[in-house]
Amino acid sequence: MNKRPKLFRRAAIVGAGMSQFGSFKDKTTRDLLTEAFAEMTKSVDKGFDPQDIQALYVANFSSDLFEGQCHVAVMLADWLGLVPRPATRIETACSSGGVTIRQGLLAIASGLYDMVLVSGTEKMTNLPTERATDTLAAASDILYEAPAGFTFPGLYATMATAYMAKYGAKVEHFMKVGIKNHNNGALNPKAQFGAIKDIMKKRQAKCEQTGQPVPQWKEELDFLRDNSANPIVAWPMKLFDCSPISDGAACLLLVAEELAKNFTDHPVLIIGTGQGSDHALFARDDMTTILGARTAAKEAYDMAGVTPKDIKIAEVHDCFTIAEMVAIEDLGFFKPGEAMRAVDEGLTARNGPKPINTSGGLKSKGHPVGASGVAQAVEIFHQMRGQAGPRQVPIDVDLAVSHSVGAHGTSCGVHVYQRGK
Ligand code: COA
Repeated sequence: MNKRPKLFRRAAIVGAGMSQFGSFKDKTTRDLLTEAFAEMTKSVDKGFDPQDIQALYVANFSSDLFEGQCHVAVMLADWLGLVPRPATRIETACSSGGVTIRQGLLAIASGLYDMVLVSGTEKMTNLPTERATDTLAAASDILYEAPAGFTFPGLYATMATAYMAKYGAKVEHFMKVGIKNHNNGALNPKAQFGAIKDIMKKRQAKCEQTGQPVPQWKEELDFLRDNSANPIVAWPMKLFDCSPISDGAACLLLVAEELAKNFTDHPVLIIGTGQGSDHALFARDDMTTILGARTAAKEAYDMAGVTPKDIKIAEVHDCFTIAEMVAIEDLGFFKPGEAMRAVDEGLTARNGPKPINTSGGLKSKGHPVGASGVAQAVEIFHQMRGQAGPRQVPIDVDLAVSHSVGAHGTSCGVHVYQRGK
C-alpha cells in the first residue's frame, strides 16, 4: 500500500474561465459552458488549438431533472466541437466540480492524456424553487432523511444548531460570514449578488420612493436580524445564510506540468488532491464536522507536502454560512470551535491573514451546483496570477486550497494549488 499519496505526474492549469452566474431564463447548459469556454480560451497566454484537447470531463449534478437532458457530457462535447473525443459526466452532488478536477488531474497523472478540459455546469432556474429544492434533496438519504421532511436548508440548519449547542455560536456569527462573502461578491463582476449593505440601501430607497415606512436599519446586522427583510428559511438559517439557486458554468484547461510553458509563463500547478466520504447526517456522531472533508484535506496536504499554515487563501464550500465555519475548521485553518473567533475578528476577510472565499463564495457568487467546484479553481487561478482586479488579495498567493462539498458533506474534494514558475 502507498502510505504517502503521490502523483506520478502533475498537472498545470493554463487557462480558466467562467460564465456569468445568476438566473438566465433564455440560456441552456450548453450556452453557459460555451461562455465559460470562450473566456478560458482567451485566458491562455500563448494560445492553444482546441483540437488538441484529448478528453472532456463535465461536472453536473442533474441536467436530467433540471433540464430534462440526460447524458449531458456528449451533448456538450458536440457543442464545443470536441466529438469524437471521450466525454464523461461526473456526479457527486455539489462536490461534482471538485471531484471532476480530481478526475482530470488523475487522467493526466496516469500518462493517458496530456491535455484535458475540466468543466462544470448547471442550469437550475428552469424549475420553480420548490421543485429545485426537491431535486437537490434527492442528494440526501432518500430512505431516512428526505421522508422525514429534510431539505438542504434543513440539513444545514441541523448542523448549525449542533454547532451552536456545542460551541455557543450565535446567529450573528453566521450573519457575519454572509456579510463578508457578499462584500467580496460585490467586487466580482461574475457574481449573482452584491454587498448586503447595497441591497439594504436599495430597499430603503424603494420604500422612500413609494411612500412606505422606511425601515431604520443602520448596519447590515440590523437588516439581517429583521425577519421581514431576511426571512427564516430553516432556523437558524435565514435567506441571507443560503446560497441561491443559480445557473452557470466554469472550465479549466489542464495540461501535463512539463508542457505548461508552451501555453503560459504563469501556470497554476495542482500539487495535491484529496477525496473523502461521510455518513448521511442522521448517522453521524458529530454534526459539527465533516469526516470526508478532513479525510480529503489530509490526503491533499500530505500529497502536496504542505500544512494548513502554509496556505495563503482558500475557496471553500459555503452553500450555507454554517458550512464555511465548519470548512475552515475541517481544513485545519482554525481549531474546532474557533471559527467564531475568526469571523468576529475578521481573520477570513479579503484583507485578513487568511482570506476565505474572495470570489464571494457560493453565497454571493452563486451556486450552480456542478459549476461551483470548478469556479473555485478559476478564482484561485486569477488570484495566484495577480489578475483578480479589485478583489485581488494584498498578500503573495503562492499556495491555495479549494474545498468542494457534496450534499451535507457526504462527499468532498480538496485540492492544493501552487503558483508555477
Ligand atoms: N440569498 C440572498 N437573497 C436571495 C437568495 C439567497 N440565497 N435567494 C433569493 N434571494 C433574493 C432574490 O434576489 C429576491 O430578491 P428581490 O425580491 O429583491 O428581487 C428575493 O430573495 C426572492 O427571490 P426568490 O428567488 O423568490 O427566492 P426563493 O424564496 O424562491 O428562494 C431560497 C430562496 C433560499 C429558498 C433558495 O435560494 C434556496 O433554496 N437556496 C438553497 C439552495 C440549495 O440548497 N443549494 C444546495 C446546497 S447543498
